Order: sequence, then structure tokens, then C-alpha cells
Amino acid sequence: MIKLHALLPSVVALALLAGQAPAQSALTTDDLRRADALLAQMTPAEKIGQLNQPFYFKLPIAGFKADPVSYEDHIRRGEIGSLLFLTDAAEINRLQKIALNESRLHIPILFGFDVIHGFDTEFPVPIGAASSWDPEMVQRAQAMAAEEAWHAGLRWSFAPMVDIARDPRWGRISEGAGEDPFLGAAMARAQVLGFQGSSERPFLATLKHFAGYGAATGGRDYDASYISEEQLQNVYLPPFRAGVEAGAGSVMSAYMDLNDVPASGNVHLLREILREQMGFHGFVVSDAFAVGSLVTQGFAKDPADAAQRGAIAGVNMDMGSATYLNQMKALLDKGQLPTSQLDDLARPILATKYHLGLFDHPFSDATGQTHSEMLAKHRPAARLAAERSAVLLRNEGHLLPLAKSTKRIAVIGPMGDRAEDMNGPWSLTAKGTDTVSVVAGLKTKFVGANVRFAPGVQLIKEFPSSFDGMFGPKPETPWSAEEAEKQWKAALDLARNSDVVVMTLGELAAMDFEYSSRSSLQLPGRQQELLQAVQALGKPVVLLLFSTRPLDLAWASSHVPAIMDCFFGGTETGNAVADLLAGDAVPGGKLTVSWPRNVGQVPVFYAHTASHKPYDSPEFTSRYWDLPTSPLYPFGFGLSYSTFSISNLRLSAKSSPVDGTTTATVTVTNTGKVAADEVVQLYLHQRYGSGSRPVRELKGFRRVTLAPGQSQEVSLTVGPKERTYFSAAKGSWVTEPSDFDVWVGDSSEATLHESFSVLP
Ligand code: NOJ
Repeated sequence: MIKLHALLPSVVALALLAGQAPAQSALTTDDLRRADALLAQMTPAEKIGQLNQPFYFKLPIAGFKADPVSYEDHIRRGEIGSLLFLTDAAEINRLQKIALNESRLHIPILFGFDVIHGFDTEFPVPIGAASSWDPEMVQRAQAMAAEEAWHAGLRWSFAPMVDIARDPRWGRISEGAGEDPFLGAAMARAQVLGFQGSSERPFLATLKHFAGYGAATGGRDYDASYISEEQLQNVYLPPFRAGVEAGAGSVMSAYMDLNDVPASGNVHLLREILREQMGFHGFVVSDAFAVGSLVTQGFAKDPADAAQRGAIAGVNMDMGSATYLNQMKALLDKGQLPTSQLDDLARPILATKYHLGLFDHPFSDATGQTHSEMLAKHRPAARLAAERSAVLLRNEGHLLPLAKSTKRIAVIGPMGDRAEDMNGPWSLTAKGTDTVSVVAGLKTKFVGANVRFAPGVQLIKEFPSSFDGMFGPKPETPWSAEEAEKQWKAALDLARNSDVVVMTLGELAAMDFEYSSRSSLQLPGRQQELLQAVQALGKPVVLLLFSTRPLDLAWASSHVPAIMDCFFGGTETGNAVADLLAGDAVPGGKLTVSWPRNVGQVPVFYAHTASHKPYDSPEFTSRYWDLPTSPLYPFGFGLSYSTFSISNLRLSAKSSPVDGTTTATVTVTNTGKVAADEVVQLYLHQRYGSGSRPVRELKGFRRVTLAPGQSQEVSLTVGPKERTYFSAAKGSWVTEPSDFDVWVGDSSEATLHESFSVLP
């Protein structure tokens, strides 16, 4: 393995190369000084306690009884540095009081939780939010999520998840920003700033899962990833790098083997890349049980070896497995772990507690804002976020927006009234009763209309899971054969007696979760059949999709006139959908993944290399005999109720020195009849160099709002930062003289083209 750090000039030079300020730790020298003073007073057992993070619920955790009495004793002995999965403010305060009053050194506990896209109020799932191409909105949403969690006593979220994912079979595609490193970096930065941006309510973000989790073989969650060094550096790491640069205070090490070394015992990843190259100074928490799993994964010999290898790799905190708690003392006694290394592991955890002000303000603000007050305050933002996230994929004959005078609206399909699913898969504290279903939203919006609902078919979770019943809404009990027939008929009757049919199809939120991979992208159950049966009636049909992975729309894309991807929009889903259908909001979201024609195309992504027969060459180009190579819908694609022209691309210069910048300017005009948003996107291609570069790479974007007839100049800049890449051939980051293509437009298939040269 190439030792990258040896090849790189320095972290500072790397950061400057990338055009960013050097990475800044969120920790101050004062935080570290106070941590050292505390460490000087601590016993080895107390230091080990700071590295231990048990779950606050009953999971089979070796050597750790998950009942409140045992928590209390462990806390008194200083054996719990952090707890996860406790969200009750009163219980948080009760345990914190024990830590402060009854433990020898009075060190507060850091309470952490998966605050992924909301806490009281749910915002759209991350891949939905990213589809807004609006980082400021994403930042505001995570600031609100942090505020809600903070009031419950939490000071730490295990988010943002910034894994690049190019395989929709993988359920956790829902949690990231899609396939692209540039967009992913923008969303990572925005989320870190959102979570950690308040000095009034200090809060900690986690970049996860470090690194390469999204490249799971076969899209099977937890399976190994095999990623070359240049793919790792150029594709999978940019969002992490951006998050570290934005000051993220913690990073979570992933489960899977990266190139046959488990990520949570991976020195190359956690020391050489994360700390030495990226300059990360916060602390690393393992994913749940991942330190213990080093044995299961065939890497460590036994739990003692796992503890040692986790420590050597630099995993500061052991989530859930209690391996550090149970093994480290013996390692110290045997001289297999130096005390200085234990101090190095504990120091950033303690410093973070000082940084968060936990010693001065350890308790939750239980008397502060209530759940309902938070909801009332944040609902408007959640509604706007869901509206800005939706992606309109088809709108033949301008079927959308629907006339407000529409009299009979049939909502058909199992997702129409499943409010809880609308909160998305990682919404563990949200209440379905707070959430607006599609039917409820449409009834409120179309007051003069008869809005009626029939599920038609059921949505049953298609695969078994040992976690069933622990997370997310429960799958339904299957109907009897007679009931199924009755419901089918009722749905078709309703469709016949309507002016428009709104089909609400998709997946259970639990299917877009951890341990939730699928081998098929078909609509689960009989939904496709139902869609075709309804379409055959000849009524105008609008298909609303609720899921996070792109599903197989091969048939729908040429038969159903209007299709909108709504993801899981959060608490205000129904109201947002109603605004969009009525034209009170105009869709402006764009895809963050290339939408496959069917599962056989997976992985399909736009930033592939040219190959010896480029896709547009006249002959020998058929990769598949039975399918085009292009996706069904390209990355960056999304329609509007208005139309736009993007024209007059001009570059500031036709040539530039290696360290120079080139500005591309276009004129964007709203050529339609309603005010609407367009996302102007810039793609770059380096024609030759020390490595083959992707045919296109996103290197700039801006979402603009224009009134009908209004024009705006949009300028996007390509500098050394956008042209720098990690070259395997050179074994280093390079910014090379070459010829470059630039395309600007409304998707990754933009045709407006210019070129420039970078001179030696
Ligand atoms: C496992 C998941 O992979 C991770 O993302 C999450 O933060 C932890 N469990 C805690 O829930």
C-alpha cells in the first residue's frame, strides 16, 4: 500500500492546493489544556470509562447489563463517557446528576443520538434534502434539528452521513447526498455548519461512516468495499474532507472491510488519511459494536486483540461493544498499551466536553421548548424544505399543476395515508401523529374537491429482519384473499369515478434503512400491477413516489403522464405535496443520482471515464445488447412548471496558468409563465493527463429563482481547486496543464459547451 502521507507535501499544502483554508479543529488550546489537567487526576479505569459508550436500551452487549440500576453503578464508577439512544430529558438529567454528584471526578456524560434529519420536526430524508441543491436550506434544517435535540439534553448527533452511494440496492443511499463528490461535499459542509453553528447551544456533528461504506459489494449492507486509492481520494473522501474543514468535531469509523481491512481497525484510514492528511483533531467513535466486530470480521484474534487494534488505529470511543471497557485495563497492565496512548484516546473526548460547555451546562433544558412548541416553530421550514426537495420527472401535456377547481381527486396506493413512513427511516423520535399524510394535505388544500383514498394494495416489508419492531413503522398484517380483492376493486372503482388519479406508491421507510438492501428496484408488492390497471382506465394519472432509492420506472416513464419523486418529505410531507400539486409551490429539485433503467445497469453514474469506445462513438458502443448505456434520467435532471433557457456561455479566458481561474458565465432566463427555480450546473472534463479523467464532473452549481421573463447572469468559477485530483500514476495530488471542456446547463447532459487550456 502506498503511504500517501509520505508522498504529500503537508496537510497545509494539500489544503491550499484544494483552495481551502487549512483544516481547523473545533477544539481550542484551552479545551486541550483543561483536558490534560483532568487527565492528570484520572485513574486508568476512569480514562477507559471515557472511551466507553453503551446503548441505553436492551441489546445484547457483552459484559454490560442494560438496565438503569447498572447504568447508575457504572456512572458512579466513572465507566460511562457517553450514552446513546436516550432521548428523554428527565432521564438524561437524572443520570447526569449521578455523574456530576456521585462520580469521583464529576465528569459529565455526553449524550448522543441519531439526529439524522430532525428530532421533533422531521425534514426530508438527506437524499431528498440534497435534491434541493440548496445547501443553505440544508444548513438551516440541521440547525433546527440540533436545536430540538439540544432541548432534550442531547449534545451530539451521529450525522451527517456523507457516504457517496452509487448503488440503489443499498438501503442507506437514503442517508447521503447521492453519487457525486462535489455535491456531497457541499451538503457535508452545510450540515456540519448547521449542526455546530450555534454558540448559544453548542452541539457536535459526526461525519460518517469513515470511509467507503457506500461501495458495499453488491449493494449489500455491511459487505466489503474494494476501492482504489484514487477512487477513495477523488470520489469517496471529498465530503469527509469538506466536513473536517468545516470543523466537524467527531467522525464515525465504518463497519465494513475496506480493501480487506475493517474500517474500525484501519490505520491507513484513521491515522494516515483522517488525522495526518486531513488534519482532523476531534475524536473518532466506532460504529455500533464495530470494535468488538473486529473479531467477527476475522481481523482480530480475540476481544483483547480487538481493543488493541481499535486503539492503535485511533478509534477513541467504542460504541456499544464494551470491548475497551472490558479489555483495556489488562492491556495496560501487560504493557501492551502504553498509558500515553490511552491518554491520546481520552484527550479529545474530554476536550470536546469542555468545548461543548458540558462542565458548565450539563443538564437538558427540560423546561424549555416543548415538543409541540418546536413543531409549531419549525413546521413552515419543514414544509418549504419538502417542497424544494421534490423532483419532477415527467409532466406530459402540463398535467401538473392541477386546477384548483378539480372536483374529484382519487388518491390511490398504499403510501397515501402512511403518515409515519413520510418521516423517513431514521426518524426515531418523530411521531407519526404529528405528520401530515398525502391524503390529509390534499384535503386541506383542495377544499372544494372530493378527495377520496383507496390503498388498492398493501405494502408489506419484503424481507425479514432481526430488528423488526425496534425501528420504524410496523409493516401491516397481510389482508385475506377476499379483502385483497375487495380493496383492489374499490381502488379501481374510485379511479373510474374521479377527474384525476394521484397514485401514491413507493417503499416502506424501513426498506430504505440499515440492513435493508434490495436485489430488485421494482415497486414492491403489487404496486406496478395496480399502476398499470389504473392507467388503463384512461384517467389522467399523477404518480408520486415515496422512497429514497430510484425505483424501476421503465414502464411508468413512457405511460404515466406526470411523475414526481417526493422521497420521504418529513413532518409536512402532505402539505408540501399539496402545494406542489396545486401549483402553490413549483418543483425545482434535481436528481442527485443517475436513475437506472433497471437493476441490471447498476452501478450507473455520470462521472465514468471515456473508455476506448466512448458512449457517443458511432460504432461498437453497445455495452448491453438489451439496454442503452445512458440512465433513464440523468444526474442533475428535474423539471419545473416553468421553462428556462440557459444560453450565451462565455469564459473569462481561453487559457490560464496552472494556478489561474476561469470564470464561466451564462444567461439564465425564465421563459415560462410562473416564477420558478432553476439549478445552473457546471461540468468539467480534463482531456488528458497522468490519469484518465471522468467524461464530466460537477464543479459548480447555483439554484436561482426567476420571475416569468426574468433573466440573470450566473457565473461559476473553475480554479486549481476544481482541477486538482489524486493521480495514482503520480501517487500524489496533481493540478496539470491540459485542455478542458466546460458544459453549463440544467443537468449532467448539458450541451452548452466551451473549452480552455491550462498552460504549463
Ligand atoms: C449503526 C449505524 O450504522 C450508524 O449510522 C448509527 O449512527 C449507529 N448504528 C447508532 O445508531
